[in-house]
Amino acid sequence: MTEQQDSRAADEFELEFITDQSSPAAQTFLRLGPAHMAETAGDAGIDVMKFLQSCLRRLGEPNRWMALFVVGGEPAGFTYFKVDRDDRPGWGYVMEFYVVPAYRRHKVGTKGWLRTKGILEAAGCTDIWLSSHPLAEGFWKSCGLLETGQMQRDQKILAISLHPAAGRNESSQPTSETKRL
Ligand SMILES: CC(C)(COP(=O)(O)OP(=O)(O)OC[C@H]1O[C@@H](n2cnc3c(N)ncnc32)[C@H](O)[C@@H]1OP(=O)(O)O)[C@@H](O)C(=O)NCCC(=O)NCCS
Repeated sequence: MTEQQDSRAADEFELEFITDQSSPAAQTFLRLGPAHMAETAGDAGIDVMKFLQSCLRRLGEPNRWMALFVVGGEPAGFTYFKVDRDDRPGWGYVMEFYVVPAYRRHKVGTKGWLRTKGILEAAGCTDIWLSSHPLAEGFWKSCGLLETGQMQRDQKILAISLHPAAGRNESSQPTSETKRL
């Protein structure tokens, strides 16, 4: 990122939703995705392009979103999330989240998270969960997510209550360090 782009990063953040798997935005997702997978999935034996294409194919399903982070007109990352119907029905589930290295530590991730959270909140979710790559834990904790004590494939499950005071009694509140599932 150039110095000029750097100064723009704080102001010029947009989401570009991907709804059509043959769109230029979908091609950008396929271009950025392998670097994300290399960083977060390691050598898990995944066929990366097949996996990324399967994400795109499912975009027509209800309550599922994918969007690019666009900073100063350039793609700077992406978010892929849904309303969970399986593991934690009704919760928001952030499945993939990525900021291009050159744009990191400029709050692009924070802005992407706030938009992701807002969409899930508007869809009626009261909680959001994800399994965090170890290197991303500091980021997610800065966004307010808490450890749950649970794991998924060697990664910690983190979660956040969007309305912690609503409809719950005192004893069911998470501590400041953990969140109950
Ligand atoms: C994790 C990631 C999304 C963070 O994106 P980002 O745009 O750099 O995040 P932000 O600039 O909004 O960071 C906000 C705060 O999060 C924390 N944070 C961010 N990256 C961090 C890191 N690598 N280590 C520790 N804390 C970190 C810091 O407190 C930071 O605030 P600061 O820069 O003022 O200190 C990005 O590094 C990334 O895409 N990593 C690879 C993919 C990945 O791990 N995705 C998540 C999978 S679960």
